[in-house]
Amino acid sequence: MCNRFDRAYQRSIDDPQGFWGEAADAVHWYKKWEQVLDAADAPFYRWFSGGETNVCYNAVDLHVAHGRGAQAAIIYDSPVTHRQQILTYSDLKSHTARFAGALRNCGVEKGDRVIIYMPMVPQAIIAMLACARLGAIHSVVFGGFAPHELAVRMDDARPKVIVAASCGIEPGRVVAYKPLLDKAIELAAHRPHACLILQREPARAKMCAGRDIDWEAAVEAAAAVDCAPVAATDPLYILYTSGTTGAPKGVVRDTGGGMVALKWSMKNIYNMHAGEVFWAASDVGWVVGHSYIVYAPLLNGNTTVLFEGKPVGTPDPGAFWRVIAEHKVKALFTAPTAFRAIKKEDPQGEYLKKYDLSGLESLFLAGERTDPSTLNWATQKLRIPVIDHWWQTETGWPICANCLGLGALPIKQGSAAKPAPGWQLRAVDAAGKPVARGDIGALVAKLPLPPGTFPTLWEAKQRYFDGYLKNFPGYYESGDAGYIDEDGYVFVMSRTDDVINVAGHRLSTGAIEEVLASHPEVAECAVMGVADDLKGELPLGCLVLNTGVQRAEHEIVAEAVQLVRAEIGPVAAFKLAVVVKQLPKTRSGKILRGTMKKIADGVAWKMPATIDDPAILDEITAALQTLGYAKSR
Ligand code: COA
Ligand code: AMP
Repeated sequence: MCNRFDRAYQRSIDDPQGFWGEAADAVHWYKKWEQVLDAADAPFYRWFSGGETNVCYNAVDLHVAHGRGAQAAIIYDSPVTHRQQILTYSDLKSHTARFAGALRNCGVEKGDRVIIYMPMVPQAIIAMLACARLGAIHSVVFGGFAPHELAVRMDDARPKVIVAASCGIEPGRVVAYKPLLDKAIELAAHRPHACLILQREPARAKMCAGRDIDWEAAVEAAAAVDCAPVAATDPLYILYTSGTTGAPKGVVRDTGGGMVALKWSMKNIYNMHAGEVFWAASDVGWVVGHSYIVYAPLLNGNTTVLFEGKPVGTPDPGAFWRVIAEHKVKALFTAPTAFRAIKKEDPQGEYLKKYDLSGLESLFLAGERTDPSTLNWATQKLRIPVIDHWWQTETGWPICANCLGLGALPIKQGSAAKPAPGWQLRAVDAAGKPVARGDIGALVAKLPLPPGTFPTLWEAKQRYFDGYLKNFPGYYESGDAGYIDEDGYVFVMSRTDDVINVAGHRLSTGAIEEVLASHPEVAECAVMGVADDLKGELPLGCLVLNTGVQRAEHEIVAEAVQLVRAEIGPVAAFKLAVVVKQLPKTRSGKILRGTMKKIADGVAWKMPATIDDPAILDEITAALQTLGYAKSR
């Protein structure tokens, strides 16, 4: 029997233009599109060509115009500063219009880039929306990245202005962002015209005369600016993500497609209606934050919760339940690692009992595969649908999901459910031939991808083609492997490249290796993601030292750990490293990272036929055992 989901899905495949054209009617356009899908430059597709719109207008001003001005747009809940604040849609409009004026006073025009390096404060959202208001392109950089990573992004995006806060607050420590920003500017070749700095109390920043401008003073001096019509195909933002090399990839989200898909997804996937409260417990620096803390809930007229805290330790494992009860959250979206952290500290769910969670109707998990034990625990404790859904920075919204708004499908443990409307997914072998149902293959999606995905990488069309479209002509290569079962459910199992997933954060082992290799006493190294009960995976480095190095190995390991923290940032969570005499390689010289990972995880592995010297694996096993890994085969 055909249900609502099946009908919507089939229509999106049979008639994508009609399907997405209708979805686009739900947003405001200054000028209607000429074509829903523009295939003139296939395989580089565009959505809503010829249309003009403004995302900030749709996310903010439109709601005020439609009488939602007094409704809460943002609930800022910050246990780390003991503050709460509500911004209504009217407040958000006036703050955003004034901050857009401040940006314009710094010379920001349509198409200019603005880097935002901020913690989870309302001003981060205001800055993003203000860019959208002007048609400027924002690029938010997560606060846990070190100056070098920020500098790389600055050189790629070449921002006219950088918006930053003086500090972020992590449980137990204040992270002074401004010295990190100053260092990044020193490292980068590109120079911004100005830096707009939000001063926060725990660590006020020293300002650099002639370059840094105080946020408050800038807003004080600025006039409100109206929304500018922007081409649907113009970029809304660039968000850098880890790739297979050290150079991050600048994922571009376009204005029209991004807006249409996100608004559609709120109702049809997340089952959210205007006026209801949605909470994505992530960070504005990640794609989940862009899509589901900021744009989608606001486009849909929801109230979004901006939580500056952690699932545990701020102050206890009841923080999520408090926020849900206090702010009447209808749907929560977070990463499985957050639930594992709560479960570890409160396995019986005692803290849950203190709060009225009757308003919570669903829990969405993404960022990594939801392991069955986390799924079962969350389901038992919350007694609501727990939905694992799969997506990526590149796609901007779910590739696979149980679309609650279209009628819930039965939940299968370990599966991200079925491809969402617009997505035609296959599991294929190396030659691009579909594998049998239930067999693991590379997960690829038939082109064109639906709207709201990424039309290109920032100023790197060839890298976009080479990285995503070349290996399987006519398909998008997701970089994930998995299988599709008899019922069409998709199980995403692992990456096909060297990207690892640490606490729902995506990291490139190649990038960590580049940093380790820069240590003067490291001759070569290999980094792999080893299984971790809390964070899913943790990076572990095997270091081969230069011949003749006399210093104690533990000193070099400590320096290597510090180097990664300084160069990539604390977010890499790189704390495990060990010195080995040699790395296992194939006869052609390829490092056998996959085998090393299996050994570390204590799972079954086979001696690779192409290995150069099998004895090396015994030494690796012994070295990994000193770190508490490689316990059994
Ligand atoms: N600014 C500066 N430093 C930051 C930071 C930020 N915005 N965010 C994290 N860090 C630091 C942390 O303080 C930590 O530093 P430490 O090594 O000195 O302890 C390091 O980066 C690693 O952070 P994280 O991986 O978040 O680990 P954690 O131990 O602090 O917390 C969890 C573990 C599971 C509680 C945490 O990862 C979490 O809440 N995850 C929720 C899911 C999520 O946000 N997913 C994103 C995609 S949906
Ligand atoms: P990011 O781009 O940081 O959002 O990371 C995307 C990657 O996280 C994907 O390519 C997957 O490897 C992984 N991922 C995200 N969601 C899921 C999920 N529900 N199941 C399995 N893997 C996931």
